[in-house]
Amino acid sequence: MKLDLDALRALIATHRDTPGGLMPALHAVQAAIGHVPPEVVPLLADTFNLSRAEVHGVVTFYHHFRSVPPGLHQIEVCRAESCQAMGSDALAAHVEHKLGCAEHHKSADGRWSNDAVYCLGLCAMSPAIAIDGQPHARITPAKFDRLIAALDGDAH
Ligand code: FES
Repeated sequence: MKLDLDALRALIATHRDTPGGLMPALHAVQAAIGHVPPEVVPLLADTFNLSRAEVHGVVTFYHHFRSVPPGLHQIEVCRAESCQAMGSDALAAHVEHKLGCAEHHKSADGRWSNDAVYCLGLCAMSPAIAIDGQPHARITPAKFDRLIAALDGDAH
């Protein structure tokens, strides 16, 4: 996909006068094209009068921001406290194995992104995950497998 840097520059500029505008600009870029590519870092640096290293530091500090396009399907496993107490470590290990990719990575075939998230607002029904932005509660490994299989019948 060819990046429309002019459109991204215009999008970033809408946050130029916002206090702490870098974060909303990063969210806006990722919402628009699914990731924050390296080509956008100089635009952000210029707009917010920061060094490229500073912008890069923010992008890489927050796991939410990705520098490469996401997989076809985005899996997010809640790693916050309530889900931790209800077995999210074991669930996350199962998800990694099932998808064939580590947390914060994309599967080699580009089908899956495997990300951590910190609370989906389903704490009373932990452990929780989101699949393509859709939350799912009380997830067991078997239930996860069924959800994935229902996506395309082609789970690993
Ligand atoms: S801690 Fe997982 S949904 Fe709140």
